[in-house]
Parts: sequence; structure tokens; C-alpha cells
Amino acid sequence: MTIRTATFNGVAVIEIARPEKKNALTAAMYGAMADALVAAGQDGAVRSVLFVGQPGVFTSGNDLEDFLQRPPAGDDAPVYRFMRALLDCEKPVVAAVTGAAVGIGTTMLLHCDLVYVSDEARLSMPFVGLGLVPEFASSLVVPALMGHVKAAEKLMLGEPFTGPEAVDCGIANAVLPAGEVVNHARRMAERFNALPPSAVRETKKLMRGGAARARIDAVMAEEGVLFTQRLRSPEAQEAFSAFLAKRKPDFSKF
Ligand code: COA
Repeated sequence: MTIRTATFNGVAVIEIARPEKKNALTAAMYGAMADALVAAGQDGAVRSVLFVGQPGVFTSGNDLEDFLQRPPAGDDAPVYRFMRALLDCEKPVVAAVTGAAVGIGTTMLLHCDLVYVSDEARLSMPFVGLGLVPEFASSLVVPALMGHVKAAEKLMLGEPFTGPEAVDCGIANAVLPAGEVVNHARRMAERFNALPPSAVRETKKLMRGGAARARIDAVMAEEGVLFTQRLRSPEAQEAFSAFLAKRKPDFSKF
């Protein structure tokens, strides 16, 4: 099993559990996370959702073998279902980032409500180096959070960044020692148990809905077309094959 779900004390926990592949996400895992988000939204006993990874890794992003062999083809692919479920989730979503958060591992944090990172967290959006483009509105949200030049380091150069920098630039709330980040995130998620749920829901809707959501949807659609094309590009094929063969990619011929 690679996605574990359980509800404790009002918190629906979605645990990414594929440590042998650094929690790389497959189509089946996206599908399971989408289902878990929808179920949490419908369960009256759930007041918030908490994403957790494994010690030392949140997720290494999309499974690169899946990208090479079975690239997502369109809007109904499990990854799109998952991200739509995250964007549509009316309940607060909290993330505990225990280590590496690569690609969609960082992108998904942009659409969570509270994010806690361990002191060994390393976030990155290495899309360009993989022959890809940003996804799920990161080309809109990241520059809005930190300004163009810092966003260009992260999105155009693909530079990784640490937990403290994630806090500085508004992606995360706080840095915790590695052994404490999950418990801290859980305690923060449990605080919603004592709050009136409709007021929480309406507040999230005001912050995330309306014009802001319309702009996000428009950028996501634009990115999605390009991303799907680029997944099949010779540059991306070279990058995925190089990673799987444990060699450096060679872009000199492009
Ligand atoms: N897709 C598929 N397999 C992955 C993976 C991914 N995204 N990330 C890691 N793995 C696999 C490795 O191939 C390796 O498998 P193996 O033991 O069968 O050879 C195993 O997980 C361990 O990975 P490894 O690279 O040895 O771990 P590390 O601790 O040295 O590095 C990362 C961890 C996350 C920094 C590194 O694995 C990485 O950069 N992964 C790719 C991230 C990426 O580009 N994601 C896509 C973003 S769009």
C-alpha cells in the first residue's frame, strides 16, 4: 500500500508511504489521494485534512518512470483529479513536510492552507531541468508570493530551497525539528475541531474562491496544455531516461 488514510480526532490523515522510491507518486497514488480528499470533504466527522510523508522525504514528485511510460494525457488523468480535489476541498488542508518535496511535492503546498516544514526539508520545482514547464498555477502563485526574481531562481533555474527560505517566502508557516513536524502539524489541524466549521469553510472560500480561483483555473489550463505537450518532447524524454539510467542528461543536441 502506498497511500494510507486514517481519521483521528477530526483530522483525516493522508500518508504518502512509498519510501523505497522516495515517495514518488504514481497514477494509482494520485487516484487514492483524490478519493481520500473527496471522502474527507463528505465525512461530517472530519474537520481538517493532514498530508504527511515519511521520515526524510515528503515526496520526490511524480514517478519519472510513469512520466516516461505512461504520461498523463488529459484532464481526467488521476493527477488532475487529485489537484482538482485539493483545490476544491472546502475543509482546511495542512501539510507536514518531513524532507524532500520535489515537483508536485512543492506545487501541492501552494494549495494547502497551513504548511509546516522540518529543518531538513528541501523544496524544489525542477521542471525546466526535466524539459517541462510549471504546473497547477505555480507560474502564477510562486511569483505572487515572492516576486519575479526569486521565483525565477526557483522555477527557471530549478534551484532547491530550504525550510527557512520556504517560511521567508510565504510557502510555509514554520520550521520544526524533524522529529516534531508531524505532531506540530497535527496539533494545528486539531485546532479546527474547536472552531465553527461553516465559518472556517466560508473563510477558506473567500480566500481561495471567486476571482482568485478563476485566475488559478485559467493559468492551470494554460500550463496543462504545455505540460502535456512537453512530457512527450525529446528534451523531457532525455531528462527522464537520464534519471532512470542514473546519468546526467545531455541537452547539447537540442
Ligand atoms: N520517480 C521515480 N523513481 C524515483 C523518483 C521519482 N521521482 N525519485 C526517486 N526515485 C527512486 C530512485 O530511482 C531510486 O530507485 P532505485 O533504488 O530503484 O535505484 C530510489 O527512488 C531512491 O532514490 P535516490 O535518488 O537514490 O535517493 P536520494 O536520497 O539520493 O535522492 C531525491 C532523493 C528525491 C533528491 C532524488 O531521488 C530525486 O531527485 N528524485 C527525482 C525528483 C524529480 O525529478 N521528480 C520529478 C519532479 S516533476
